[in-house]
Amino acid sequence: MENRNNQIELTNKFVKSFHQNEASGHDWFHIDRVRNIALKIAKIEGGYNFKIELTALLHDVADHKLNNGDEKLGLKKVGDFLKSINIDESLKESILYDIANLSYKGAKVVQKELSLEGKIVQDADRIDAIGAIGIARTFAYGGNKNRMMYDPSCKPEMHTDFNAYKNNTTPTINHFYEKLLLLKDRLNTNTAKEIAAERHQYMESFLEQFYKEWDCK
Ligand code: ADP
Ligand code: NI
Repeated sequence: MENRNNQIELTNKFVKSFHQNEASGHDWFHIDRVRNIALKIAKIEGGYNFKIELTALLHDVADHKLNNGDEKLGLKKVGDFLKSINIDESLKESILYDIANLSYKGAKVVQKELSLEGKIVQDADRIDAIGAIGIARTFAYGGNKNRMMYDPSCKPEMHTDFNAYKNNTTPTINHFYEKLLLLKDRLNTNTAKEIAAERHQYMESFLEQFYKEWDCK
């Protein structure tokens, strides 16, 4: 009944409406960038583009932050949707597995092995978490959650479990040390590592300037 273009079109529509009015850095434009970065990586690294596109489009629908803390409910939404557009059972299961395991869960939490397509989408999601866009998203998130921007007495933590990571309410600058600056060494593909280098450098310069101005120099 469906062809792939049609299935992608239906997914676009579903995801656009799911992320409508999202103001914590997980808006539709984030999803669209992740899709585009992932397809750019795939041109060099290979992978099945249809699966990459579906995974990228749906990757944040199951996020616990967008499902009142209930990731299982989020995964059910993704599964039900894939079924509704007639995605094969085995492809559906593989996409669900990747989506359940691609998000960052804390500095010392062990990463599960993903499919090639999952690895590429994870890289794209991580690239969109660093650089100028990454900085902007992080402060948008902090503001959305009423977090302080910076408190020099509050030190970053290397979380060993996902609950501790997701429940922390520390100032936004801490997130750079707890996640953003670690991402360049947690990418799967060489293509993503190349893209990340400049963005990582940009965050380092940002922090240097931030502390300089903080000290009124
Ligand atoms: P992932 O897609 O790797 O699971 P998240 O959805 O947890 O990542 O986070 C995406 C982005 O949201 C982060 O890169 C960051 O910009 C912002 N964010 C998430 N958690 C925090 C936090 N505790 N403090 C500041 N920003 C955050
Ligand atoms: Ni994301």
